[in-house]
This record gives sequence, C-alpha cells and structure tokens, in this order.
Amino acid sequence: MAQTGLRDTEKLSRLRTQLPAVSTTGYFNAGTNGPLCRPAHDAIVAAAEQELTTGRIVPGVYQGHAEQINCIREVLADVFNADTSELALTRSTNDGLNIALNGIAWNPGDEVLTTNLEHPSLFTPLALLAHRYGIVIKVVDIGNGGGDVVATLEAAITPRTRVLALSHVMWSSGAIMPLHDISAMAHRHNALVVVDAAQSPGQVKVDLHDTGVDAYAMAGQKWLCGPEGTGVLYVATAAFPEISPSHIRYGQADPTGYLIPAPGARRYEMGECYSPAMIGMEATLKWLRDEVGTEWAFARTKTLAQRFAKGIQELDGVEIFSPLDKIGGLVCFNVPDMTPQELTDTLYARGQTIRYVAYAPGPTIARASIAWWNTEDEVEQLVKEIADIVENHEQRAAAD
Ligand SMILES: Cc1ncc(COP(=O)(O)O)c(C=O)c1O
Repeated sequence: MAQTGLRDTEKLSRLRTQLPAVSTTGYFNAGTNGPLCRPAHDAIVAAAEQELTTGRIVPGVYQGHAEQINCIREVLADVFNADTSELALTRSTNDGLNIALNGIAWNPGDEVLTTNLEHPSLFTPLALLAHRYGIVIKVVDIGNGGGDVVATLEAAITPRTRVLALSHVMWSSGAIMPLHDISAMAHRHNALVVVDAAQSPGQVKVDLHDTGVDAYAMAGQKWLCGPEGTGVLYVATAAFPEISPSHIRYGQADPTGYLIPAPGARRYEMGECYSPAMIGMEATLKWLRDEVGTEWAFARTKTLAQRFAKGIQELDGVEIFSPLDKIGGLVCFNVPDMTPQELTDTLYARGQTIRYVAYAPGPTIARASIAWWNTEDEVEQLVKEIADIVENHEQRAAAD
C-alpha cells in the first residue's frame, strides 16, 4: 500500500487532536461507538451552558429550536442526499426501525425477509410484530454477505412478502449490501425495503436517493463520531402512504386538525429531542463534511481495513469471515483455539479496543472497526498484538 503523503499526515494529526479518545488506546470500535469529536463536544457544552444560564424556556427559545432543527435537516439532506422533508430526527437506530416497522398496516401471515447477519435491533422489533400481528419472519441465509445477495433474497420472495428488512453494512461481517439493486428487485415484487443503517453513515458513502430504499434508520454515535441519543430516520416521499406514524405528539400534528400528520417526515417524530445533543450532531456532520471530507475518510477507512486484513491473513490459523472485496472498515475474523471474547479481552489488556459479536443466528466473531482516524502504525500494532497472542497461545498449547 502507498504510504500516507505528508499532507495527509498533517491533516490526520490535526483531525486526531479533535478526537482525543483515539490517543488513549488503539481504538478500533466505531462499530459500537465512535470517538466523540471535539466540535460535537464543544457545541453540546455551549448549548447546555446556555440552557443553564439563560433558562430553557425564555421568549424566542421555541422559535430558535425550530430554526435549529431546520438547519440540522439541511445538513443531513446535503450529506446523505435526501430532501429535508424526508428526514425525521430520532434517538437511535433502534428508534427509527421501530417507527418504520410499526408504521406498516400488517395483516396476519404477511412475510418479512431478513438475513442471518442482522443485529438484535432489527430482529427484536420484527419479533414484536410477529407476536402482535402474526407476521412471518423469514431469515434468509446470505452467508457472510459476499455472494449474490440480490438473487438469494429474490429466491425467497413470495406473494406474501411485504418487507425486506436488512442492514446497509452488516455488523457481523462488514459486508456492504447493494441497496440500489435490492430496492429495485423488492419494488418489482411490491415489497418495501427497511434498512438498519447503524453501521453505514460515516463508514461508507450513503446516497439515500440512489439507494431507492423506503426507510433508512441511522445512528449518530458510531462512525459519525456524534453524540449518544441521536439518530435519523429517512423515509422516502413515495413511502409516506405505506408507513404511517404510529405515535403522535401535539407539536407534530397539523395545526388544522389533531389527526392530520405533520407535513413530511416530521410526522414520525415523537417530539423534541435533547437539543444540545442535536446541536452536537449538527456540528459533527459539518465537521465531517467540511473539515474531514467524507470521500477522503471513506477511502482511507477502506485502505486501512484492507491493510489490517492482509496483515492478519498471513497469521497461522486466522480466519477472516468478512468478504474483503465488499467491506468498508469492519473486519470480522477468528483466531485459532480462542473465543472471540477471550481475544477481545486479551487485546484490551494490551491497550487495543476491538469487540466481539455473538448473537444467533449470526457468527460468533471478533470484529475490528478500522477507521480513517487510525494511523498506519496503529493498524500495524494491532496486527502485531494479534500475531503475538496467536503465537503465545500456540506455544502454551504445545507445552500443555
Ligand atoms: C447493525 C446495528 N443495528 C443497530 C444497532 C443499535 O444501534 P442504536 O444504539 O443506535 O439503536 C447496532 C449497534 O451496535 C448495530 O450494529
């Protein structure tokens, strides 16, 4: 791999000072939570301070909130290529998934196709719907997500299939799903596409209009480096009639009548979010777009992840589960004779933070989230630590 150029090195050092947490350990866990960036932190503190000192409800505050929310929607629409009217502010990915899935008028026997690689945040709302409405959940085995997922999913579709519910980037293999093609195929069969987008924003390019999906639930706290308690639900304008709001708050109703939903995706919002967190989210997005540069970040994430994968691939007995030609920054793997949890704990004791994933029906696997803010040296160090652990383990096993 080409070495990072001088200008990149300077840029990276500057950006890393805005992510202080990445200098405390080798931080490879954006898939759980990314490091909070300083612009978000500063914006949160300033907003909280203002609430503390000038009061939360003084004349002009409500109007200020409304303007602020509009600004946030504009930045989101710009970064993710959507209309502002298609974006609802939520508190998490899980929140957005619940809103979208509960908004569908289900009939007993309706089918949902999902995959073996999903997170419980998607399985659990589906399980609730199965209990409540008698829908049928079909878990399609797509292996590690590296094959022809469109064909595999299409083969499982029946006339009862109402929804395809799956992730954009699989948390348990890192595979990026071809959403554009999946949506085109699903729509040919009159099925909606609802996406768990916890892992994608900030890790890979997200062009919402191009994906063609109906609903897309994102998180702020992972690869975007934003605050906890922030999320965004995109609902395509064409899907509004299919996805109804399933809760309503007085501020969200049209002023002409209680039961008329608010215009656009605001109809899906439960009410106010904690405004310092939202202001922090806006600061994060502007920082990513204007200072980091999303294209630069995605390319660097991918290059570093491939470098890491290549490094561990050469180690005896290490098995990579991720389809390397279809990933961004998530590399899932196992080392011989050690559980993913043991490996994760051992690495943590050595100053390296990764995580393990262990939820049926997915794989039990160690997962490194390699991100643009990591240095080449950090990635090399992680490979070295894993090599050392594998070697020591082998020696101990031979001595026993
Ligand atoms: C694929 C996936 N979906 C959903 C979630 C949950 O995200 P949130 O906490 O934003 O609801 C996670 C978190 O790890 C995830 O990896």
